Amino acid sequence: MREIENFFTVRWRELDISHHSSFIASMSNNIFKTKSISALLAVAQEGGGLKRTLGAVNLIALGIGAIIGAGLFVRTAAAAAQAAGPAVTLSFIVAAIGCAFAGLCYAEFAASVPISGSAYAYAYVTMGEIVAWIIGWALIMEYALGAATVSIAWSEYLNKFLEAVAGTKIPPEWCHSPFEGGYINAPALFILLILTLVLIRGTEESATLNSVLVGLKLAVVLIFIAVGWQFINPAFHTPYMIPDPATVDMNNLPEHLKGFDFATHTGFFKHGYGGVIGGAAIVFFAFIGFDAVSTTAQEAKNPGRDMPIGILGSLAVCTILYILFGYVLTGVAPWTDFADATKGKEASVAYAISHYMTGYGWLATAVTCAILAGFSSVILVMLMGQSRVFYSMAKDGLVPAVFAELHPTHKTPFKSNWIVFAFVALFAGFIPGDVAGDLTSFGTLLAFVLVCIGILVMRVKMPDMKRPFATPLPWVVAPLGAIICLGMIVALDKVTLLSALAWMAVGLVVYFVYGIHNSKLQKGTDTTLDPTDFLDKGAGH
Ligand code: ALA
Repeated sequence: MREIENFFTVRWRELDISHHSSFIASMSNNIFKTKSISALLAVAQEGGGLKRTLGAVNLIALGIGAIIGAGLFVRTAAAAAQAAGPAVTLSFIVAAIGCAFAGLCYAEFAASVPISGSAYAYAYVTMGEIVAWIIGWALIMEYALGAATVSIAWSEYLNKFLEAVAGTKIPPEWCHSPFEGGYINAPALFILLILTLVLIRGTEESATLNSVLVGLKLAVVLIFIAVGWQFINPAFHTPYMIPDPATVDMNNLPEHLKGFDFATHTGFFKHGYGGVIGGAAIVFFAFIGFDAVSTTAQEAKNPGRDMPIGILGSLAVCTILYILFGYVLTGVAPWTDFADATKGKEASVAYAISHYMTGYGWLATAVTCAILAGFSSVILVMLMGQSRVFYSMAKDGLVPAVFAELHPTHKTPFKSNWIVFAFVALFAGFIPGDVAGDLTSFGTLLAFVLVCIGILVMRVKMPDMKRPFATPLPWVVAPLGAIICLGMIVALDKVTLLSALAWMAVGLVVYFVYGIHNSKLQKGTDTTLDPTDFLDKGAGH
Protein backbone atom coordinates (compact mmCIF):
# COMPACT_ATOMS: atom_id res chain seq x y z
CA MET A 1 0.00 0.00 0.00
CA ARG A 2 2.72 2.41 1.03
CA GLU A 3 4.52 1.79 -2.30
CA ILE A 4 1.39 2.69 -4.25
CA GLU A 5 1.02 5.89 -2.24
CA ASN A 6 4.69 6.82 -2.71
CA PHE A 7 4.46 6.20 -6.44
CA PHE A 8 1.48 8.53 -6.82
CA THR A 9 2.97 11.12 -4.48
CA VAL A 10 6.10 11.43 -6.65
CA ARG A 11 4.03 11.58 -9.88
CA TRP A 12 1.76 14.23 -8.28
CA ARG A 13 4.70 16.44 -7.42
CA GLU A 14 6.05 16.12 -10.96
CA LEU A 15 2.67 16.96 -12.39
CA ASP A 16 1.74 19.75 -9.99
CA ILE A 17 0.07 22.27 -12.26
CA SER A 18 0.97 25.19 -10.04
CA HIS A 19 4.54 24.88 -11.33
CA HIS A 20 3.46 25.70 -14.87
CA SER A 21 2.71 29.14 -16.17
CA SER A 22 0.49 28.59 -19.20
CA PHE A 23 -2.98 30.10 -19.40
CA ILE A 24 -4.55 26.70 -18.77
CA ALA A 25 -2.40 26.22 -15.73
CA SER A 26 -3.31 29.61 -14.32
CA MET A 27 -7.00 28.93 -14.98
CA SER A 28 -6.69 25.54 -13.29
CA ASN A 29 -4.75 27.22 -10.58
CA ASN A 30 -7.79 29.33 -9.83
CA ILE A 31 -10.63 26.89 -9.88
CA PHE A 32 -8.61 23.94 -8.60
CA LYS A 33 -6.91 25.94 -5.85
CA THR A 34 -6.84 23.98 -2.60
CA LYS A 35 -6.89 25.15 0.98
CA SER A 36 -3.95 24.57 3.26
CA ILE A 37 -4.71 21.72 5.59
CA SER A 38 -2.51 22.84 8.46
CA ALA A 39 -4.17 26.24 8.76
CA LEU A 40 -7.56 24.61 8.40
CA LEU A 41 -6.70 22.35 11.31
CA ALA A 42 -5.83 25.41 13.35
CA VAL A 43 -9.27 26.81 12.60
CA ALA A 44 -10.89 23.50 13.51
CA GLN A 45 -8.98 23.57 16.77
CA GLU A 46 -10.45 26.94 17.60
CA GLY A 47 -13.94 25.73 16.77
CA GLY A 48 -14.64 28.83 14.67
CA GLY A 49 -17.23 30.08 17.15
CA LEU A 50 -19.43 26.96 17.20
CA LYS A 51 -19.62 25.24 20.59
CA ARG A 52 -18.05 21.80 21.08
CA THR A 53 -20.89 20.04 22.86
CA LEU A 54 -21.34 16.66 21.17
CA GLY A 55 -19.96 13.39 22.56
CA ALA A 56 -19.81 9.91 21.00
CA VAL A 57 -23.30 8.92 22.18
CA ASN A 58 -24.82 12.17 20.84
CA LEU A 59 -23.11 11.55 17.52
CA ILE A 60 -24.39 7.97 17.21
CA ALA A 61 -27.86 9.27 18.12
CA LEU A 62 -27.53 12.02 15.49
CA GLY A 63 -26.60 9.39 12.93
CA ILE A 64 -29.50 7.11 13.84
CA GLY A 65 -31.70 10.21 13.93
CA ALA A 66 -30.92 10.97 10.30
CA ILE A 67 -30.87 7.36 9.12
CA ILE A 68 -34.02 5.57 10.31
CA GLY A 69 -37.03 7.12 8.59
CA ALA A 70 -39.04 6.73 5.41
CA GLY A 71 -36.43 4.36 4.03
CA LEU A 72 -37.09 1.70 6.66
CA PHE A 73 -40.80 2.22 7.24
CA VAL A 74 -41.84 2.73 3.62
CA ARG A 75 -39.17 1.39 1.29
CA THR A 76 -38.55 -2.02 2.94
CA ALA A 77 -41.94 -3.30 1.84
CA ALA A 78 -41.58 -1.58 -1.55
CA ALA A 79 -38.21 -3.26 -2.19
CA ALA A 80 -39.63 -6.67 -1.18
CA ALA A 81 -42.63 -6.24 -3.46
CA GLN A 82 -40.85 -4.76 -6.46
CA ALA A 83 -37.54 -6.60 -6.57
CA ALA A 84 -36.20 -8.72 -3.74
CA GLY A 85 -39.04 -10.59 -2.00
CA PRO A 86 -37.97 -11.82 1.47
CA ALA A 87 -34.36 -11.42 0.29
CA VAL A 88 -34.77 -7.71 1.04
CA THR A 89 -32.58 -8.67 4.01
CA LEU A 90 -29.77 -9.34 1.50
CA SER A 91 -30.56 -6.04 -0.26
CA PHE A 92 -29.95 -4.27 3.03
CA ILE A 93 -26.58 -6.01 3.29
CA VAL A 94 -25.59 -4.98 -0.27
CA ALA A 95 -26.60 -1.34 0.29
CA ALA A 96 -24.84 -1.38 3.67
CA ILE A 97 -21.59 -2.59 2.08
CA GLY A 98 -21.62 0.33 -0.38
CA CYS A 99 -22.36 2.73 2.46
CA ALA A 100 -19.74 1.15 4.73
CA PHE A 101 -16.98 1.76 2.15
CA ALA A 102 -18.05 5.38 1.79
CA GLY A 103 -18.54 5.56 5.59
CA LEU A 104 -14.94 4.44 6.22
CA CYS A 105 -13.70 7.21 3.92
CA TYR A 106 -15.97 9.76 5.61
CA ALA A 107 -14.64 8.61 8.99
CA GLU A 108 -11.02 9.24 7.96
CA PHE A 109 -11.84 12.71 6.69
CA ALA A 110 -14.08 13.68 9.62
CA ALA A 111 -11.44 12.56 12.14
CA SER A 112 -8.51 14.19 10.33
CA VAL A 113 -10.24 17.39 9.13
CA PRO A 114 -12.84 17.97 11.85
CA ILE A 115 -14.45 21.02 10.31
CA SER A 116 -18.07 21.92 9.66
CA GLY A 117 -19.09 21.29 6.07
CA SER A 118 -18.34 17.61 5.64
CA ALA A 119 -17.57 16.42 2.12
CA TYR A 120 -17.50 20.00 0.87
CA ALA A 121 -14.67 20.91 3.24
CA TYR A 122 -12.74 17.71 2.48
CA ALA A 123 -12.83 18.41 -1.24
CA TYR A 124 -11.54 21.94 -0.65
CA VAL A 125 -8.29 20.65 0.84
CA THR A 126 -7.85 17.76 -1.56
CA MET A 127 -9.35 18.39 -4.98
CA GLY A 128 -9.76 22.15 -5.10
CA GLU A 129 -12.39 24.84 -5.01
CA ILE A 130 -14.47 23.86 -8.02
CA VAL A 131 -14.85 20.27 -6.84
CA ALA A 132 -15.70 21.54 -3.36
CA TRP A 133 -18.34 23.78 -4.89
CA ILE A 134 -19.80 20.89 -6.90
CA ILE A 135 -20.05 18.78 -3.73
CA GLY A 136 -21.53 21.67 -1.75
CA TRP A 137 -24.14 22.12 -4.47
CA ALA A 138 -24.87 18.35 -4.51
CA LEU A 139 -25.20 18.35 -0.73
CA ILE A 140 -28.00 20.91 -1.05
CA MET A 141 -29.85 18.20 -2.96
CA GLU A 142 -29.16 15.69 -0.22
CA TYR A 143 -29.98 17.79 2.83
CA ALA A 144 -32.44 20.47 1.70
CA LEU A 145 -34.39 18.25 -0.71
CA GLY A 146 -34.08 15.34 1.74
CA ALA A 147 -35.66 17.45 4.48
CA ALA A 148 -38.41 18.55 2.06
CA THR A 149 -39.15 14.96 0.97
CA VAL A 150 -39.39 13.67 4.51
CA SER A 151 -41.51 16.61 5.70
CA ILE A 152 -44.02 15.80 2.95
CA ALA A 153 -44.06 12.15 4.09
CA TRP A 154 -44.51 13.43 7.68
CA SER A 155 -47.62 15.31 6.56
CA GLU A 156 -49.09 12.10 5.06
CA TYR A 157 -48.47 10.13 8.23
CA LEU A 158 -49.90 12.90 10.41
CA ASN A 159 -53.17 12.35 8.58
CA LYS A 160 -52.97 8.58 9.15
CA PHE A 161 -52.33 9.22 12.83
CA LEU A 162 -55.23 11.68 13.16
CA GLU A 163 -57.49 9.20 11.41
CA ALA A 164 -56.48 6.36 13.74
CA VAL A 165 -56.78 8.24 17.02
CA ALA A 166 -59.43 10.91 16.32
CA GLY A 167 -61.23 9.68 13.22
CA THR A 168 -60.55 12.98 11.45
CA LYS A 169 -58.27 14.31 8.69
CA ILE A 170 -56.80 17.62 7.59
CA PRO A 171 -58.70 18.82 4.48
CA PRO A 172 -56.79 17.54 1.42
CA GLU A 173 -56.35 21.00 -0.12
CA TRP A 174 -54.34 22.08 2.95
CA CYS A 175 -51.97 19.12 2.88
CA HIS A 176 -51.20 18.90 -0.84
CA SER A 177 -49.17 21.03 -3.22
CA PRO A 178 -50.84 23.02 -6.03
CA PHE A 179 -49.55 20.34 -8.44
CA GLU A 180 -51.76 17.81 -6.63
CA GLY A 181 -54.91 19.94 -6.52
CA GLY A 182 -54.22 21.57 -3.15
CA TYR A 183 -53.23 25.06 -1.96
CA ILE A 184 -50.24 24.27 0.21
CA ASN A 185 -48.85 21.41 2.27
CA ALA A 186 -49.37 23.13 5.62
CA PRO A 187 -48.38 20.26 7.98
CA ALA A 188 -45.04 19.94 6.13
CA LEU A 189 -44.38 23.65 6.72
CA PHE A 190 -45.48 23.28 10.34
CA ILE A 191 -42.97 20.54 11.18
CA LEU A 192 -40.18 22.39 9.33
CA LEU A 193 -40.92 25.56 11.31
CA ILE A 194 -40.92 23.79 14.69
CA LEU A 195 -37.65 22.02 13.97
CA THR A 196 -36.03 25.21 12.66
CA LEU A 197 -36.92 26.93 15.94
CA VAL A 198 -35.34 24.05 17.88
CA LEU A 199 -32.19 24.26 15.75
CA ILE A 200 -31.87 27.99 16.38
CA ARG A 201 -32.30 27.41 20.11
CA GLY A 202 -29.07 25.42 20.20
CA THR A 203 -27.12 22.43 19.00
CA GLU A 204 -27.22 20.80 22.43
CA GLU A 205 -31.00 21.28 22.68
CA SER A 206 -31.41 19.89 19.16
CA ALA A 207 -29.27 16.89 20.06
CA THR A 208 -31.40 16.31 23.18
CA LEU A 209 -34.67 16.44 21.22
CA ASN A 210 -33.09 14.18 18.63
CA SER A 211 -32.14 11.65 21.33
CA VAL A 212 -35.75 11.56 22.59
CA LEU A 213 -37.11 11.03 19.08
CA VAL A 214 -34.47 8.40 18.35
CA GLY A 215 -35.31 6.58 21.61
CA LEU A 216 -38.97 6.49 20.63
CA LYS A 217 -38.42 5.16 17.14
CA LEU A 218 -35.82 2.63 18.28
CA ALA A 219 -38.20 1.34 20.95
CA VAL A 220 -40.97 0.77 18.41
CA VAL A 221 -38.61 -0.86 15.90
CA LEU A 222 -37.33 -3.21 18.62
CA ILE A 223 -40.86 -4.01 19.86
CA PHE A 224 -41.96 -4.73 16.30
CA ILE A 225 -39.01 -7.06 15.80
CA ALA A 226 -39.50 -8.85 19.15
CA VAL A 227 -43.28 -9.24 18.94
CA GLY A 228 -43.35 -9.88 15.19
CA TRP A 229 -40.76 -12.63 15.54
CA GLN A 230 -43.42 -14.85 17.16
CA PHE A 231 -45.76 -14.31 14.21
CA ILE A 232 -43.25 -15.25 11.49
CA ASN A 233 -44.71 -17.82 9.13
CA PRO A 234 -41.70 -19.69 7.64
CA ALA A 235 -43.78 -20.47 4.53
CA PHE A 236 -43.70 -16.77 3.61
CA HIS A 237 -39.88 -16.95 3.48
CA THR A 238 -39.93 -19.76 0.88
CA PRO A 239 -38.69 -19.23 -1.79
CA TYR A 240 -36.39 -16.59 -0.34
CA MET A 241 -36.00 -14.69 -3.62
CA ILE A 242 -38.63 -13.81 -6.20
CA PRO A 243 -38.67 -16.72 -8.72
CA ASP A 244 -37.65 -16.12 -12.33
CA PRO A 245 -40.91 -15.71 -14.29
CA ALA A 246 -39.29 -17.53 -17.25
CA THR A 247 -38.69 -20.75 -15.33
CA VAL A 248 -41.20 -20.70 -12.48
CA ASP A 249 -43.49 -23.74 -12.28
CA MET A 250 -46.92 -22.09 -12.16
CA ASN A 251 -48.61 -25.35 -11.14
CA ASN A 252 -46.41 -25.87 -8.16
CA LEU A 253 -46.45 -22.52 -6.45
CA PRO A 254 -46.59 -22.08 -2.68
CA GLU A 255 -49.96 -20.85 -1.42
CA HIS A 256 -48.97 -17.17 -0.99
CA LEU A 257 -47.62 -16.89 -4.55
CA LYS A 258 -50.69 -18.38 -6.23
CA GLY A 259 -52.45 -15.93 -8.52
CA PHE A 260 -49.52 -13.48 -8.43
CA ASP A 261 -48.78 -11.77 -11.75
CA PHE A 262 -45.11 -12.62 -12.36
CA ALA A 263 -45.13 -10.71 -15.66
CA THR A 264 -44.23 -7.57 -13.69
CA HIS A 265 -40.99 -9.24 -12.55
CA THR A 266 -39.28 -10.11 -15.83
CA GLY A 267 -36.45 -7.49 -15.70
CA PHE A 268 -32.96 -8.43 -14.47
CA PHE A 269 -33.28 -6.31 -11.33
CA LYS A 270 -36.75 -7.72 -10.54
CA HIS A 271 -36.15 -11.30 -9.43
CA GLY A 272 -33.49 -13.65 -8.07
CA TYR A 273 -30.04 -12.25 -7.27
CA GLY A 274 -30.59 -9.33 -9.68
CA GLY A 275 -33.66 -8.50 -7.59
CA VAL A 276 -31.45 -8.35 -4.51
CA ILE A 277 -29.43 -5.59 -6.23
CA GLY A 278 -32.57 -3.86 -7.49
CA GLY A 279 -33.84 -3.96 -3.91
CA ALA A 280 -30.54 -2.48 -2.68
CA ALA A 281 -31.02 0.56 -4.95
CA ILE A 282 -34.50 1.03 -3.50
CA VAL A 283 -33.46 0.71 0.16
CA PHE A 284 -30.33 2.85 -0.31
CA PHE A 285 -32.49 5.79 0.73
CA ALA A 286 -32.83 4.14 4.15
CA PHE A 287 -29.10 4.59 4.79
CA ILE A 288 -28.87 8.24 3.77
CA GLY A 289 -27.96 10.35 6.75
CA PHE A 290 -24.96 8.68 8.39
CA ASP A 291 -22.78 11.22 6.62
CA ALA A 292 -24.72 14.06 8.27
CA VAL A 293 -22.78 13.21 11.45
CA SER A 294 -19.66 14.55 9.77
CA THR A 295 -21.24 17.99 9.22
CA THR A 296 -21.13 18.54 12.98
CA ALA A 297 -17.42 17.71 13.31
CA GLN A 298 -16.68 21.24 14.48
CA GLU A 299 -19.11 20.77 17.36
CA ALA A 300 -17.73 17.40 18.49
CA LYS A 301 -15.84 17.30 21.77
CA ASN A 302 -13.25 14.80 20.57
CA PRO A 303 -13.65 14.48 16.80
CA GLY A 304 -10.57 12.33 16.22
CA ARG A 305 -12.06 9.52 18.28
CA ASP A 306 -15.79 10.22 18.20
CA MET A 307 -16.35 10.99 14.50
CA PRO A 308 -15.51 7.44 13.34
CA ILE A 309 -17.55 6.05 16.26
CA GLY A 310 -20.53 8.26 15.34
CA ILE A 311 -20.44 7.54 11.60
CA LEU A 312 -19.60 3.83 11.63
CA GLY A 313 -21.48 3.11 14.89
CA SER A 314 -24.78 4.53 13.65
CA LEU A 315 -24.34 2.73 10.33
CA ALA A 316 -23.69 -0.59 12.08
CA VAL A 317 -26.63 -0.28 14.49
CA CYS A 318 -29.01 0.61 11.66
CA THR A 319 -27.79 -2.17 9.38
CA ILE A 320 -28.48 -4.83 12.04
CA LEU A 321 -31.91 -3.38 12.81
CA TYR A 322 -32.80 -3.13 9.11
CA ILE A 323 -31.94 -6.77 8.42
CA LEU A 324 -33.99 -7.96 11.41
CA PHE A 325 -36.86 -5.63 10.50
CA GLY A 326 -36.91 -6.85 6.89
CA TYR A 327 -36.79 -10.47 8.02
CA VAL A 328 -39.73 -10.03 10.39
CA LEU A 329 -41.84 -7.91 8.04
CA THR A 330 -41.61 -10.41 5.16
CA GLY A 331 -42.20 -13.28 7.62
CA VAL A 332 -45.29 -11.77 9.21
CA ALA A 333 -46.99 -10.92 5.89
CA PRO A 334 -46.27 -12.37 2.42
CA TRP A 335 -44.34 -9.93 0.23
CA THR A 336 -47.02 -10.31 -2.44
CA ASP A 337 -49.42 -8.37 -0.16
CA PHE A 338 -47.06 -5.38 -0.37
CA ALA A 339 -47.47 -5.34 -4.15
CA ASP A 340 -51.26 -5.21 -3.91
CA ALA A 341 -52.89 -1.77 -3.67
CA THR A 342 -55.98 -3.34 -2.08
CA LYS A 343 -53.83 -4.89 0.67
CA GLY A 344 -50.53 -3.69 2.10
CA LYS A 345 -49.00 -1.52 -0.63
CA GLU A 346 -49.52 1.59 1.47
CA ALA A 347 -48.70 1.88 5.19
CA SER A 348 -47.29 -1.64 4.86
CA VAL A 349 -46.00 -2.03 8.40
CA ALA A 350 -49.29 -0.99 10.01
CA TYR A 351 -51.08 -3.30 7.54
CA ALA A 352 -48.89 -6.29 8.45
CA ILE A 353 -49.54 -5.72 12.14
CA SER A 354 -53.27 -5.23 11.94
CA HIS A 355 -53.84 -8.16 9.54
CA TYR A 356 -51.41 -10.78 10.79
CA MET A 357 -50.48 -9.96 14.39
CA THR A 358 -53.71 -10.65 16.24
CA GLY A 359 -54.10 -8.75 19.50
CA TYR A 360 -51.48 -6.14 18.67
CA GLY A 361 -53.65 -3.46 17.03
CA TRP A 362 -52.17 -0.85 19.40
CA LEU A 363 -48.75 -1.56 17.90
CA ALA A 364 -50.01 -0.33 14.51
CA THR A 365 -50.81 3.08 16.08
CA ALA A 366 -47.48 3.04 17.96
CA VAL A 367 -45.71 2.41 14.65
CA THR A 368 -47.42 5.44 13.11
CA CYS A 369 -46.32 7.47 16.15
CA ALA A 370 -42.76 6.21 15.80
CA ILE A 371 -42.82 7.08 12.12
CA LEU A 372 -43.80 10.67 12.97
CA ALA A 373 -41.01 10.84 15.55
CA GLY A 374 -38.59 9.12 13.18
CA PHE A 375 -39.34 11.46 10.30
CA SER A 376 -38.97 14.48 12.62
CA SER A 377 -35.48 13.48 13.64
CA VAL A 378 -34.50 12.86 10.00
CA ILE A 379 -35.72 16.36 9.09
CA LEU A 380 -33.96 17.86 12.11
CA VAL A 381 -30.56 16.42 11.26
CA MET A 382 -30.94 17.19 7.53
CA LEU A 383 -31.77 20.84 8.29
CA MET A 384 -28.83 20.99 10.66
CA GLY A 385 -26.51 19.43 8.06
CA GLN A 386 -27.61 21.93 5.41
CA SER A 387 -27.00 24.94 7.62
CA ARG A 388 -23.54 23.61 8.57
CA VAL A 389 -22.56 23.13 4.92
CA PHE A 390 -23.69 26.69 4.11
CA TYR A 391 -21.81 27.88 7.19
CA SER A 392 -18.57 26.49 5.84
CA MET A 393 -19.22 27.79 2.33
CA ALA A 394 -19.96 31.27 3.69
CA LYS A 395 -16.79 31.22 5.77
CA ASP A 396 -14.96 30.60 2.51
CA GLY A 397 -16.79 33.42 0.75
CA LEU A 398 -18.45 31.11 -1.78
CA VAL A 399 -21.95 32.01 -0.56
CA PRO A 400 -22.94 35.29 1.15
CA ALA A 401 -21.60 35.90 4.65
CA VAL A 402 -25.09 35.94 6.16
CA PHE A 403 -24.98 32.11 6.18
CA ALA A 404 -22.15 32.16 8.69
CA GLU A 405 -23.53 34.68 11.18
CA LEU A 406 -23.89 33.10 14.59
CA HIS A 407 -26.59 33.90 17.14
CA PRO A 408 -25.04 36.02 19.92
CA THR A 409 -26.18 33.71 22.71
CA HIS A 410 -27.11 30.36 21.14
CA LYS A 411 -24.04 30.26 18.89
CA THR A 412 -26.09 28.70 16.09
CA PRO A 413 -26.10 29.95 12.48
CA PHE A 414 -29.62 31.32 12.97
CA LYS A 415 -29.93 33.41 9.83
CA SER A 416 -28.81 30.44 7.79
CA ASN A 417 -31.44 28.33 9.59
CA TRP A 418 -34.15 30.79 8.52
CA ILE A 419 -32.97 30.96 4.92
CA VAL A 420 -32.76 27.14 4.75
CA PHE A 421 -36.27 26.99 6.23
CA ALA A 422 -37.61 29.32 3.51
CA PHE A 423 -35.87 27.35 0.76
CA VAL A 424 -36.96 23.92 2.01
CA ALA A 425 -40.48 25.20 2.72
CA LEU A 426 -40.80 26.28 -0.90
CA PHE A 427 -40.26 22.67 -1.99
CA ALA A 428 -42.20 21.09 0.87
CA GLY A 429 -45.23 23.35 0.59
CA PHE A 430 -45.63 23.55 -3.15
CA ILE A 431 -44.01 20.54 -4.81
CA PRO A 432 -45.04 16.83 -4.78
CA GLY A 433 -42.90 14.55 -2.59
CA ASP A 434 -41.74 12.02 -5.20
CA VAL A 435 -40.00 14.73 -7.27
CA ALA A 436 -37.44 15.33 -4.53
CA GLY A 437 -36.82 11.74 -3.31
CA ASP A 438 -34.53 10.42 -6.05
CA LEU A 439 -32.68 13.73 -6.34
CA THR A 440 -31.80 13.27 -2.67
CA SER A 441 -30.20 9.92 -3.54
CA PHE A 442 -28.31 11.49 -6.46
CA GLY A 443 -26.83 14.27 -4.33
CA THR A 444 -25.81 11.82 -1.64
CA LEU A 445 -24.22 9.33 -4.03
CA LEU A 446 -22.27 12.03 -5.86
CA ALA A 447 -20.86 13.25 -2.54
CA PHE A 448 -19.98 9.64 -1.60
CA VAL A 449 -18.10 9.09 -4.87
CA LEU A 450 -16.08 12.29 -4.47
CA VAL A 451 -15.28 11.56 -0.82
CA CYS A 452 -13.96 8.11 -1.80
CA ILE A 453 -11.76 9.69 -4.48
CA GLY A 454 -10.76 12.48 -2.09
CA ILE A 455 -9.34 10.02 0.40
CA LEU A 456 -6.93 8.69 -2.19
CA VAL A 457 -5.95 12.19 -3.32
CA MET A 458 -5.22 13.08 0.30
CA ARG A 459 -3.11 9.94 0.76
CA VAL A 460 -1.04 10.95 -2.25
CA LYS A 461 -0.76 14.68 -1.56
CA MET A 462 -0.42 14.46 2.19
CA PRO A 463 1.00 11.04 2.97
CA ASP A 464 2.42 12.06 6.35
CA MET A 465 -0.60 13.86 7.68
CA LYS A 466 -1.80 12.85 11.17
CA ARG A 467 -4.79 10.54 10.75
CA PRO A 468 -6.57 9.79 14.05
CA PHE A 469 -8.59 7.26 12.04
CA ALA A 470 -7.21 5.71 8.86
CA THR A 471 -9.42 3.90 6.35
CA PRO A 472 -8.19 0.28 6.25
CA LEU A 473 -6.98 -0.92 2.81
CA PRO A 474 -7.72 2.50 1.26
CA TRP A 475 -6.69 1.45 -2.25
CA VAL A 476 -9.34 -1.28 -2.16
CA VAL A 477 -12.06 0.29 -0.02
CA ALA A 478 -12.15 3.73 -1.69
CA PRO A 479 -12.25 2.56 -5.35
CA LEU A 480 -14.87 -0.07 -4.51
CA GLY A 481 -16.93 2.52 -2.63
CA ALA A 482 -16.73 4.91 -5.60
CA ILE A 483 -17.62 2.19 -8.13
CA ILE A 484 -20.60 0.87 -6.14
CA CYS A 485 -21.97 4.39 -5.61
CA LEU A 486 -21.39 5.32 -9.27
CA GLY A 487 -23.29 2.15 -10.20
CA MET A 488 -26.21 3.27 -8.08
CA ILE A 489 -26.16 6.71 -9.74
CA VAL A 490 -26.31 5.11 -13.18
CA ALA A 491 -29.25 2.97 -12.03
CA LEU A 492 -31.33 6.08 -11.24
CA ASP A 493 -34.01 6.92 -13.79
CA LYS A 494 -33.36 9.29 -16.70
CA VAL A 495 -35.63 12.09 -15.49
CA THR A 496 -33.81 12.18 -12.16
CA LEU A 497 -30.43 12.23 -13.88
CA LEU A 498 -31.46 15.04 -16.24
CA SER A 499 -32.95 17.13 -13.42
CA ALA A 500 -29.80 16.56 -11.37
CA LEU A 501 -27.59 17.63 -14.26
CA ALA A 502 -29.70 20.77 -14.71
CA TRP A 503 -29.28 21.52 -10.99
CA MET A 504 -25.52 21.04 -11.23
CA ALA A 505 -25.38 23.31 -14.31
CA VAL A 506 -27.19 26.07 -12.40
CA GLY A 507 -24.63 25.53 -9.64
CA LEU A 508 -21.74 26.11 -12.03
CA VAL A 509 -23.33 29.33 -13.30
CA VAL A 510 -23.69 30.57 -9.70
CA TYR A 511 -20.06 29.68 -9.03
CA PHE A 512 -18.72 31.56 -12.03
CA VAL A 513 -21.03 34.55 -11.47
CA TYR A 514 -20.63 34.81 -7.68
CA GLY A 515 -18.43 32.21 -5.96
CA ILE A 516 -15.17 32.60 -7.84
CA HIS A 517 -15.23 36.40 -7.45
CA ASN A 518 -15.97 36.33 -3.73
CA SER A 519 -13.91 33.31 -2.75
CA LYS A 520 -11.53 34.24 0.05
CA LEU A 521 -9.04 31.71 -1.23
CA GLN A 522 -8.98 33.39 -4.66
CA LYS A 523 -8.78 36.86 -3.13
CA GLY A 524 -5.98 35.84 -0.83
CA THR A 525 -8.02 36.64 2.27
CA ASP A 526 -8.73 33.00 3.00
CA THR A 527 -9.36 32.00 6.57
CA THR A 528 -6.87 29.21 6.19
CA LEU A 529 -4.14 31.74 5.52
CA ASP A 530 -5.11 33.71 8.58
CA PRO A 531 -7.07 31.63 11.08
CA THR A 532 -7.93 34.65 13.23
CA ASP A 533 -9.95 36.10 10.35
CA PHE A 534 -12.30 33.13 10.70
CA LEU A 535 -12.97 34.05 14.30
CA ASP A 536 -13.47 37.71 13.58
CA LYS A 537 -17.19 37.62 12.79
CA GLY A 538 -18.15 39.98 10.00
CA ALA A 539 -14.63 40.91 9.01
CA GLY A 540 -13.75 40.39 5.41
CA HIS A 541 -17.29 39.42 4.43
N1 ALA B 1 -32.51 7.66 5.69
C1 ALA B 1 -33.51 8.64 5.81
C2 ALA B 1 -34.86 8.05 5.74
O1 ALA B 1 -34.95 6.87 5.52
C3 ALA B 1 -33.35 9.71 4.78
O2 ALA B 1 -35.83 8.76 5.91
